[in-house]
Amino acid sequence: MKENCLQRIKTLYLGFFLVFFAQTSFPQEQTNDALFRALGGMQGVEKIVNDFVPLVITDKRISADFKDTNLKRFAMLLSEQICMLSGGPCVYTGDNMQLVHRGMRINNAKFNALVEQLQAAMDKNKVSPATQNKLLAILAPMQRDIVTQ
Ligand code: HEM
Repeated sequence: MKENCLQRIKTLYLGFFLVFFAQTSFPQEQTNDALFRALGGMQGVEKIVNDFVPLVITDKRISADFKDTNLKRFAMLLSEQICMLSGGPCVYTGDNMQLVHRGMRINNAKFNALVEQLQAAMDKNKVSPATQNKLLAILAPMQRDIVTQ
């Protein structure tokens, strides 16, 4: 009986040790995908982008800038970018923002117009204001690379 009890304690001790060892030696990958999930995951991001593109190409302030753009490719790359920046499992495969927008003569008014349409697309998809602000805060620093005028 005593022997049995001792054996169980030993097994339990070994179990605790193994769990502790596994956790310290192989830590779980730390990814914070809270924003990505708040946006509705990949389906949510793609819905937002698919609502955003028609708003952009019909906005008189910026539509001309997109007249020669492959919109399918643009939507795909923007979805990838938003997915990655919000902590989702994507890898952005497009070019860097400075290179892409170089020579487009984008000013602050155009930048703000595009952001306004992104907000409208998020409103349409019932994204909460707090979540919208988190995404916009991540995109805001790109203004330095995109606005050249
Ligand atoms: C936060 C703001 C912005 C973000 C996150 C953004 C993001 C992107 C991304 C991911 C691409 C695709 C990159 C690639 O082709 O490799 C792209 C392309 C493009 N962006 Fe932006 N952009 C922003 C602002 C703007 C503004 C303000 C304009 C003009 C008013 C603009 C015009 C374009 C155009 C025309 C293309 C397509 C370029 C081409 O056809 O090759 N973008 N943008």
